[in-house]
Amino acid sequence: DPMAQVNGNYLKLKAGYLFPEIARRVKAFSEANPEAPIIRLGIGDVTEPLPEACRSAMKAAIDEMGTREGFHGYGPEQGYLWLREAIATHDFQSRGCQVSAEEIFVSDGSKCDSSNILDILGEGNRIAVTDPVYPVYVDSNVMAGRTGDADDAGQYGGLTYLPITASNGFTAPLPEGKVDLIYLCFPNNPTGAVATKEQLKAWVDYARANGSLILFDAAYEAFIQDPSLPHSIYEIDGARECAIEFRSFSKNAGFTGTRCALTVVPRGLIGTAANGEQVELWGLWNRRQCTKFNGVSYIVQRGAEAVYSPEGQAQVKALIAFYMENAAIIRRELSAAGLAVYGGEQAPYVWIKTPTGVDSWGFFDLLLSEANVVGTPGSGFGAAGEGYFRLSAFNSRENVLEAMQRIQRALSAPAAVA
Ligand code: MLT
Repeated sequence: DPMAQVNGNYLKLKAGYLFPEIARRVKAFSEANPEAPIIRLGIGDVTEPLPEACRSAMKAAIDEMGTREGFHGYGPEQGYLWLREAIATHDFQSRGCQVSAEEIFVSDGSKCDSSNILDILGEGNRIAVTDPVYPVYVDSNVMAGRTGDADDAGQYGGLTYLPITASNGFTAPLPEGKVDLIYLCFPNNPTGAVATKEQLKAWVDYARANGSLILFDAAYEAFIQDPSLPHSIYEIDGARECAIEFRSFSKNAGFTGTRCALTVVPRGLIGTAANGEQVELWGLWNRRQCTKFNGVSYIVQRGAEAVYSPEGQAQVKALIAFYMENAAIIRRELSAAGLAVYGGEQAPYVWIKTPTGVDSWGFFDLLLSEANVVGTPGSGFGAAGEGYFRLSAFNSRENVLEAMQRIQRALSAPAAVA
């Protein structure tokens, strides 16, 4: 007898997920060159220690768990109210956004939430993504059967791709027709671009006029330096009617390995059922989480809460400043080496134009073999990312400085860009 059927949508996916694919190539290179002192500026994973405020809070929570009175079993699927209240106050209300604790769902990651959100959204939605884009938005739609097959350029049937390149200043153009779902990420992964209030307002106006839902990924908001830039889409009037926002403790407080994030689903945000009935998305997401999710551990939520203490705030600010200085060094040194660089001023990613005649994977191979530096090929984020390359600012100062020296040497060697 034939074995059980697989989800055929998975067979439409291109090769591997980008970051494991890079890891595979790096592994092959280091097996062939065991002495090569590789510096990783590829995947956007933080490197600096967890803030002291978070560690102390987690240690205290562990001790509490060791007592009968302080023990915690299953927590609320939505997250503990004290954490949701701290988030609502500090991340949203302090910036004039009307987001309440009840609208915040604590989770184990924005990657998971931005994929899982498709559970509550219908099959027939027309979906727009930027190109280049964080690959999770696209792949999760492929897995959920919301796309057709990929073409030769790697673009999936049924998706609307909005190119973001140097020629449009890395701001996504509004779709020409009507789309139902729009993924936006600002500060942007991978380009490091940001959106002004006016630009976000244009998106909110579009969404309200077309009945579209914006899925707004603000995982990198803490890196914004310019005080005039919005951190949340809810800083724009009307966004509560058309947007869900994803946030994370991964990049601001270094929780990539610790896991804590949140999603905001405003009350009153509605979608349409097949029979035309209007349905509140909050209720669906709450239902989804209660069935499929058991919440983030008490210990980790106490660690996340400590981000909002005065010490936590100061320590997170110092972490961000540290990574942003790395980004500034990368921008400065690569510009000096004659490369065109973008991003890296309000985001931990620097987006680089590859030298003439070298494509994204060619530049990846060149930097890996000649400088032993790992970055991320722009084409891995989409067809319009071809000819670009991403370096992340997440590493030690020493490694960033060393990587820049090596790249400069590699690029000035006559063979490099022949
Ligand atoms: C990236 O390098 O783009 C990151 O891995 C994104 C993420 O945090 O998932």
